[in-house]
Amino acid sequence: MKLIFASHNQNKVLEIQNILGGRYDLISLNDLSFHDDIPETEETLEGNSLLKATAIHKQFEMPCFADDTGLEVEALDGAPGVYSARYAGSNKNAEDNMNLLLKNLANHSNRKAQFRTVITYKTNQQLMQFEGLIQGEIISEKKGEFGFGYDPIFVPNGASKTFSQMTMSEKNKYSHRSRAFEKLRSFLESK
Ligand code: IMP
Repeated sequence: MKLIFASHNQNKVLEIQNILGGRYDLISLNDLSFHDDIPETEETLEGNSLLKATAIHKQFEMPCFADDTGLEVEALDGAPGVYSARYAGSNKNAEDNMNLLLKNLANHSNRKAQFRTVITYKTNQQLMQFEGLIQGEIISEKKGEFGFGYDPIFVPNGASKTFSQMTMSEKNKYSHRSRAFEKLRSFLESK
């Protein structure tokens, strides 16, 4: 089955192909030579994920899905949330984002946070959303060398190291994204 993944991120495509398995042939926006950036103008993960899936489905008229992820920090009322990528500015720099988050959390003893992913799956007949989340805490200094984004400062519940200190397959046992995509896979396989 051919499925469009409304993303330009080739690393994510590989990661998700791995989760969904060989029954699905993922087509990325690069494969479709679609190089435009779809502006994420909504104020929720649900809204942005829906916006991306709907725009790409309209253009290519094939089964399609999109994802959107945010890091939600309890003591900061859910920030950076939907603005996680550009928390410290529009250049989307991961180091700057982490530094700002650590600064904003410096006087808080509550370090609880969660990563949340929302996937929207869209076909001519169906519109479905799937959520995956992992709770954990933000530590006060960066640790580890793998991964991306906020991985060096996030320790998932049940682990004693950051996402950044884990291999990709270790991280996938916990990750918000793999949990959301497992739900999409179960749904596709139940059809
Ligand atoms: P996206 O919606 O997947 O592009 O994620 C938005 C932002 O959330 C990214 O730019 C990262 O800052 C952050 N993020 C998403 N997933 C992860 C993750 O697995 N680890 C660390 N940060 C992440």
